[in-house]
Amino acid sequence: MSEEITVAPLHAVVVPFPAQGHVNPLNNFAELLAMRGVFITFVTTEWIHQRLLLAAGDHKPKDRGSNFRFLSIPDGLPPEHGRTAQLDEYLFALQSLGPALTSLLTAADKSVPPITCIVADSFLSCTAELAKNLGVPRVVFWTSCTTLAIMQANTDLLISEGHIPVEEEDLKSKDKLITCLPGKIPPIRPTDIMSFYREKHLSDNLYNIFLHESRINKMADYVLVNTFEELEGGKEAQMGLSFNGCPALAIGPVSLPNFLEGRNSMYSMWEADKTCLQWLDTQPQASVLYVSFGSIAVKSEKQLHELALGLEACGYPFLWVLRSDIAEGKPMELPEGFKDRTKDRALIVSWTEQLKVLSHPSLGGFLTHNGWNSTLEAISMGVLMIGWPYFHDQFLDCRLAKDIWKIGLDFEGVDADEFKLVTKEVVESKIISLMGSSIGKKLRENAMRLKEAAKKAVMEGGTSYTNLNTFVKDMKNMNLYEDN
Ligand code: UDX
Repeated sequence: MSEEITVAPLHAVVVPFPAQGHVNPLNNFAELLAMRGVFITFVTTEWIHQRLLLAAGDHKPKDRGSNFRFLSIPDGLPPEHGRTAQLDEYLFALQSLGPALTSLLTAADKSVPPITCIVADSFLSCTAELAKNLGVPRVVFWTSCTTLAIMQANTDLLISEGHIPVEEEDLKSKDKLITCLPGKIPPIRPTDIMSFYREKHLSDNLYNIFLHESRINKMADYVLVNTFEELEGGKEAQMGLSFNGCPALAIGPVSLPNFLEGRNSMYSMWEADKTCLQWLDTQPQASVLYVSFGSIAVKSEKQLHELALGLEACGYPFLWVLRSDIAEGKPMELPEGFKDRTKDRALIVSWTEQLKVLSHPSLGGFLTHNGWNSTLEAISMGVLMIGWPYFHDQFLDCRLAKDIWKIGLDFEGVDADEFKLVTKEVVESKIISLMGSSIGKKLRENAMRLKEAAKKAVMEGGTSYTNLNTFVKDMKNMNLYEDN
């Protein structure tokens, strides 16, 4: 690593949105900064910190060496609150954390270097107040793709052009394309816009909370995105996030260099089943369908039954993650006799070490909700996807995977109608198309190309690698400037 920069006095405070899909990328990013000599303070809420500690077993987040410290603050909600399951109340509570964060970080601690910057998740407007109080730059880290980030940061533009709120009839139109956004990104469709901006949600608190967050995001001093230039429109795409001329750089996939170099930087809120990898070892190459919908998405009991019967009918081995709250907050009841009938080719678990699962040679495809982390992890490992988005950015990620990168399939109509029931026949035929047809073969070639491009981007001399070094250098320069 000849380009490595050692800048011991830099101190980045890294603040993820307290949810699984945000802690993972910010934690991986923090690891990459720590590798470059930056002192890290990683701040989460007590609720999530306790869950990470419980699930980690021997691999505790606090044991990370002398230039890494973990701090946590209460989120102001009672222990029994659903957090991401009651998203509007959760976001609202988090918006008020500015003063608590300021008190936490201004408490004098002579054993750590002075704070250089706040690296904050894109949905944490409270960190703008923190950065202002501390007099340091606020770096906004987008845990979504660049296209979504540009849409979200330009909410006001989309409102003024009449695209938000997204109307019911526009959702059904396949022809309407939105081309008014900056940055070199593909034209988007109404169904690609974040689901919280759909017309029926107008009275929701979420609509207004996201609008507020988008306005604060535009005031970033520096922008980083967990994507890579070769995937999304080169440098020009990220420049669509450069409001007030601030730098905007793609530095992902941030989990990939840690994975490639054997550093375990994935922390989970659930304990991973350790038998998955051994079970995968017993399966034929490229034969297994991995089914997982991330940490938040839920489905109705009826829909889960159709899915189970489709998995049974397709004939392929499958590894299915069934979280204990997957059936709209409850555990799923499997169809009668299902376990017995599929026991020779199925493994059902409550959580996996996903990156390791996706990298396994037995994996043949991924039935996913297309959360951005899952999408990027599948791209990093060259795994094909069938997208079944649930909310938020997942409709866009699914469409990019299918139409732009051509590495996946989807279930038609789910993007416009969240209550659409996908039948067992449709599940079966889609899996067969992906796993066993010439369509899948073509998509697999594209997936392998992107896998190589992702690897190249994060290795020494690659675009993301170089961009991350540029970020560290820029922070160092800002630091020197502050000292003078
Ligand atoms: C959320 C949003 O839903 C998503 O759309 C947004 O982009 C980020 O925040 P989540 O729904 O959990 O995240 O999905 P995803 O982004 O895919 O993140 C899930 C993370 O959990 C991934 O890093 C994945 O590797 C990990 N995971 C998932 C496991 O480690 N084990 C599992 O069994 C399932």
